[in-house]
Amino acid sequence: MLAINQINQQRLWKTIKELSEIGSGTNIAEEGVTRLSLSLEDLEARHYVISLMEEAGLDVRVDEVGNIIGKLEGTDPNAPIVMTGSHVDTVLQGGVFDGTLGVLGAIEAVRSIKESGIQLTHSIEVVSFTDEEGTRFGTGYIGSKAMTGYLDEATLSLTDANGITYAEALHQAGFDPTLYKQAIRKPEEIKAYVEMHIEQGKVLEENELAVGVVTNIQGPVWVEVTLNSHPDHAGATPMNMRRDASLAMAEVMLEVERIATKYQGVGTVGKLKVEPGGVNIIPGKAIFSIDLRHGDIELRTKMVNEVTASIEEISKKRLIEPVIELKKSVDPAVCSSTIVDLLEESCKELDIPTMKLPCGAGHDSLMMTKITEMGMIFVRSKDGISHNPKEWTEKEDCVKGTHVLLQALRKLAK
Ligand code: GLV
Ligand code: MN
Ligand code: MN
Repeated sequence: MLAINQINQQRLWKTIKELSEIGSGTNIAEEGVTRLSLSLEDLEARHYVISLMEEAGLDVRVDEVGNIIGKLEGTDPNAPIVMTGSHVDTVLQGGVFDGTLGVLGAIEAVRSIKESGIQLTHSIEVVSFTDEEGTRFGTGYIGSKAMTGYLDEATLSLTDANGITYAEALHQAGFDPTLYKQAIRKPEEIKAYVEMHIEQGKVLEENELAVGVVTNIQGPVWVEVTLNSHPDHAGATPMNMRRDASLAMAEVMLEVERIATKYQGVGTVGKLKVEPGGVNIIPGKAIFSIDLRHGDIELRTKMVNEVTASIEEISKKRLIEPVIELKKSVDPAVCSSTIVDLLEESCKELDIPTMKLPCGAGHDSLMMTKITEMGMIFVRSKDGISHNPKEWTEKEDCVKGTHVLLQALRKLAK
C-alpha cells in the first residue's frame, strides 16, 4: 500500500473561490457563473489556470485549439502519460464546481505530489479542455475532440449567436484553427485518463457518500429543430385555419418526454424560440433544441429515430416544414475496469467509503475513451443540483475527491 499524501485543503478551496469570481456578477447566488467558451470571462479563467499551473511548478503549454496542458515530468520520458483534468468553461448561469473541481483538484493533487518530492516514473499531465459545455456554438467537447482526432472542419464553421464562427473565435483568442490536427495525441502516448467531477445528481447524497466511482457514461445526441410555417393574425385566423409552429413544437416536446420515458433514457428541450414573437401573432417559426441520452447506444438510436419520426408526423399533420439538424452525437462509454478497481482500492486505502454508479452527464472523458483507458471519480453534489447557480459541493467532499485523485494518479504513474 502507498503511504498517504495530503493535499493542501485551504489552497484548493481558495483556488475554487478565486476562479468562481471570474464570470460571476455581484450576485453569484442568483446569477451563478457564466464563462461561455472563448468569451472574455473564459479567457480570464484560462489565464488563471495557466498561472496556477506555473505556480505549481508544472511545464505549461497550450495546444492548437486552446487545451491548457500542465505537465509534471516523470523519471522515464518514454513512459506513456497519465492524464487528468476537466474544463473551466460553463453553461449560462452555471455553478461553481462543474468542471472547475476536476481542473483545480488535479492541479492541487499534482502540486502536492511535486511538493512531497515523490518521484514518479510516468509524467502526469493536467488538462483544462477547451469548450466542454458547447453552449456558445451548440456542440461541445471541442478540446477533447481535437485531442482524439474527432474535430472536423464542419465544427469549426459553426457560428455563435453573433455569427462568429468557431474558427474566428479561436483565432481571436490567439490560436491558429487551421492547425487543429496538430492537437491530436497518439493512443500509445497516453496510459490513462482520470477525471474528477461533481456528480450533478443525488445518488451519492442519498447514500451518504462523499465520493463515487463511475462505471459508465451516457452519450448525448443534440439536434436543433426548426419548424417553418408562416405568421398570421391572432384575431382574424380561426383555429382550424392555423399553421401554428409553436403548437407543433409543444406536441414534439411531449413526444420527447414520452419516448425518453419509454426507453428509460432522458430527453430535454432546453432552448426554444418562436418567431416573430408577438402577443397577437400566430408563430410562423419555432426553433428548439433536443438533448437525448442513454447509456445503451442501440436504445438511444431508437429514441432518436422515434423522435425524428414524430417531428415529421406532427409537421405533416399541421402543414409545417421541419428542418432537423444534428449538432452533436457522442457514443456512451464504459469506464476501464482496471481504473474502476484502482479507484475503489484508492478509496479503501484512504478510508473513504464509496460506491459504483453510472454517470448521466457528458464529459470530455467520453472522447478520451477513444484513445485511452478512462475512469471517473464523482464527488457529492448538494441536492443533486447542477447547471444552476445553486450547484454546491462541500469543501470536505472536494478534499476527499482530490485525495482519491492524488492516490490514483500516484498508482497509475509509479
Ligand atoms: C455537460 O455538462 C452535459 O452533460 O451536457
Ligand atoms: Mn456541465
Ligand atoms: Mn462538466
